[in-house]
Amino acid sequence: MGGDQGKLTGPDLAAGIDEGALAPDGTLLGHAAGEAVLLVRRGGDVLAVGATCTHYGGPLAEGALEGDTVRCPWHHACFDLRTGTAVRGPALNALACYDVARGGGRIRVGARKPDAKAPAPAGAPRSIAVIGAGAAGDSAAATLRREGYAGDLHVFGADAAPPVDRPNLSKDYLAGTAPEEWLPLRSETFFADNRIELQLGARVAGLDVAGRKLKLDGGREVAWDALLLATGAEPVRLTGPGADLPHVLTLRTLADSRAIIAKAKDAKRAVVVGASFIGMEAAASLRARGLEVDVVAPDAQPFAKVLGPEVGAFLRGVHEAKGVRFHLGQTVAAIEPRAVTLSGGGRLEADLVVVGIGVRPALGLAEAAGLTIDRGVVVDAHLQTSAPGVFAAGDIARYPYGKAGTRVRIEHWAVAQRMGRVAALNMIGRRTPFAQAPFFWSVHYDVQLNYVGHAEGWDRADVHGSLDARDATIAYRRGAETLAVATIGRDRVSLDAELALERGDEAALQAFGRTI
Ligand SMILES: Cc1cc2nc3c(=O)[nH]c(=O)nc-3n(C[C@H](O)[C@H](O)[C@H](O)COP(=O)(O)OP(=O)(O)OC[C@H]3O[C@@H](n4cnc5c(N)ncnc54)[C@H](O)[C@@H]3O)c2cc1C
Ligand code: FES
Repeated sequence: MGGDQGKLTGPDLAAGIDEGALAPDGTLLGHAAGEAVLLVRRGGDVLAVGATCTHYGGPLAEGALEGDTVRCPWHHACFDLRTGTAVRGPALNALACYDVARGGGRIRVGARKPDAKAPAPAGAPRSIAVIGAGAAGDSAAATLRREGYAGDLHVFGADAAPPVDRPNLSKDYLAGTAPEEWLPLRSETFFADNRIELQLGARVAGLDVAGRKLKLDGGREVAWDALLLATGAEPVRLTGPGADLPHVLTLRTLADSRAIIAKAKDAKRAVVVGASFIGMEAAASLRARGLEVDVVAPDAQPFAKVLGPEVGAFLRGVHEAKGVRFHLGQTVAAIEPRAVTLSGGGRLEADLVVVGIGVRPALGLAEAAGLTIDRGVVVDAHLQTSAPGVFAAGDIARYPYGKAGTRVRIEHWAVAQRMGRVAALNMIGRRTPFAQAPFFWSVHYDVQLNYVGHAEGWDRADVHGSLDARDATIAYRRGAETLAVATIGRDRVSLDAELALERGDEAALQAFGRTI
């Protein structure tokens, strides 16, 4: 990531610019009252919004316009230019919107507008319950209030921690470069200020769909008129000798990340089991803490299943250059307090073992409640389950995707947030299909990979550019169809690929990642 968000560039928009300086459907970066402001011409209107993404500060002037929205080039958040609302995660908060005055051939940016307040939706359910205080649950609750929902709103989270920036748990926070204060998604008073009854450490133990009530651990019952299930996923645990030793840890929650950090303080050597995203991000973070790191996985290359052997080999090299050692094509046979024995017979010293071998969706409640399940909670295009009024979002939901409507279940942070928002809109009667190209990003030292689309069963990965130069596009194809596009160092290509995937524009997609 780059950019100097602290520095104001471009004209002083409060002083004004000539109308001719803003092209039809063009954008112009300037500033007003000490803030970076993006001016956008849409048809006959000129709109002014904050130019800095509310997620991690991405430069929206380098983003993409689509209809009345702008998308951030860094992690593809999307904002409504008329209201500032973050309509797609990972951004949580709205952009500032400014008054625009026009006359005498000049455009001037005026005062910041008050935050848009949506009118209460007519015919909304009297009470809504959200089970799960993670990406999807948090986003759904916040959306309901932003969209004017005025009824009772309960959010139950089994974790003791409030909703946190989960992707950070394996990245900067685990590496020791982000303080814990950065992790909560919301301010301390957000939930109370928005009349959201957030109950933490509150596990829902049962769900009565016909009677429209849920039961908490401990027996308390809560009635609801509409419900969102957003229980996420649980890490798959190792089995076998020593798998339950106290220095063998998985990583899903803030408590998990804290436990790894606590053990890492006295540890010298870590073995990471699993060479996909969480395992490899944990490996990078533990290297940053100065531990010796060995990675054990059955794969031939890290990430190969998702990203292909070429990108896998490149990322392996990136990790090896930082001192990570790989033991591939094998698994863990046994763990002792200070060593790990591999299936190939090798033995690695380890005073910390981090297990990242995948997750299983947390389906227990949905199954027991009799909802239709197919390796996930089956939902329709509006994210409604087989029970009317009961919605599901995030890692547990299997939804119809793409032209063919094949059901997929996706485990990405921003997708869960976006599903939470769309489920919330549908719960209050704003019929909105979930029709977005999945997006995730992953960070390995100074390499950020962006990935749009969903490629189960691709047969070709066309690489354009240079992986070594960290300037590449990789298009995952099946036959003549482009299923997904990954980029390194090409943020704008990633956004354009997202737009092309969502428009079904295969001609544009064919231009990405031609083999050279
Ligand atoms: C360490 C880590 C790093 C990641 N990095 C990335 C990344 O870089 N990019 C990316 O796209 N994705 C990343 N992911 C994946 C991403 O975090 C998930 O896809 C996302 O959190 C899913 O959101 P969710 O709302 O479905 O579930 P979660 O965020 O897991 O939330 C589920 C919540 O439900 C609660 N819950 C479960 N059962 C119950 C119950 N019975 N009663 C009450 N509450 C319950 C849980 O306590 C939890 O709070 C990462 C995941 C991890 C663990
Ligand atoms: S900085 Fe804009 S989406 Fe992350």
